[in-house]
Amino acid sequence: MKTDSQRYLVTGATGHLGQRVVADLVTTVGPTQVTAAVHTVAKATALQAQGVALTALDYADVAGMTSAFTGQDVVIYIPSKTYDLQQRINEFENSLQALQVAHVPSVIFVSFYADQENDPFTMAPYYAYVPRRLASSGLHYAIIKNSLYADPLVPYFSELIQRRALIYPVGQQALTFITQDDSAKAIAALATKSQLRDAGQVYTITQEESLTMPELGRIMTTVTGRPIGYRPVTNERFQQIYAAEGDGAELASMYAAAALGLFNIVTDDFVKITGHRPENMSDFLSRSYPESD
Ligand SMILES: NC(=O)c1ccc[n+]([C@@H]2O[C@H](COP(=O)([O-])OP(=O)(O)OC[C@H]3O[C@@H](n4cnc5c(N)ncnc54)[C@H](OP(=O)(O)O)[C@@H]3O)[C@@H](O)[C@H]2O)c1
Repeated sequence: MKTDSQRYLVTGATGHLGQRVVADLVTTVGPTQVTAAVHTVAKATALQAQGVALTALDYADVAGMTSAFTGQDVVIYIPSKTYDLQQRINEFENSLQALQVAHVPSVIFVSFYADQENDPFTMAPYYAYVPRRLASSGLHYAIIKNSLYADPLVPYFSELIQRRALIYPVGQQALTFITQDDSAKAIAALATKSQLRDAGQVYTITQEESLTMPELGRIMTTVTGRPIGYRPVTNERFQQIYAAEGDGAELASMYAAAALGLFNIVTDDFVKITGHRPENMSDFLSRSYPESD
């Protein structure tokens, strides 16, 4: 249903989150007002089928971004996933320059709640930097911070069933999660509700409860019918176990933040933005297990 005549551009539109944000915007405002900005055009077939406009966009190319942003009313900025801190900052600086030159009236920055001063997560300095940079940019913006995605737990089920335990090195600290579907819903809703954005607002979207690992294990046990307890490994061991996947050190740094209690943040921002309650972990895992694809 079409509710306004604003033009929305989503960066990172082929990604897990970006695809969902595009789909939710299409549902809310219709395809003709939505532009999917894609890094690799070959990945954009599904987006194209939704009838949205497509534009190529590279965070390294200021001139290209300026041209893509020109004429847009709201740009939803989803960062890349690179763990190279300097590169991620450079990508943002390039984007900021383009947003300013294109005079984009409204920016939504998609962030992560790991941004505290004492946060050991590799990318925490980036998430701390961007809001401060936006504050002095002259742009109208809002920041929406995700908590941990619940979604990566789903492909992890078979390993957990084998291990019979979660192994995250977070001790008894509780963590909050959000599903990618709910994250996208909140981002799209924020983009389309001008009264909630443009004044430097900062939102953190979480489920309604934080979960300790024994609590998460109990939910997983109920969902799978298989015993999944909690036997934490050390942070060093965790890093070694996932080193082969290429991001063991970064993930370990993220769980070091969780072990400090920095991810135990619960807010009602999701309800404030969407008017609905976020999906809880039990419902999400029940509908997602067993993994269908
Ligand atoms: N909350 C959490 O637990 C959590 C977990 C993971 C990630 N995140 C963060 O959430 C965001 C989205 O995650 P996601 O899973 O949707 O990531 P994703 O699937 O990797 O999507 C990232 C998107 O950025 C695009 N991109 C990469 N380099 C680019 C460049 N130089 N210029 C323009 N676009 C570029 C990618 O396009 P190509 O594929 O074509 O390069 C892709 O469409 C990321 O910022 C990520 O750091 C949060």
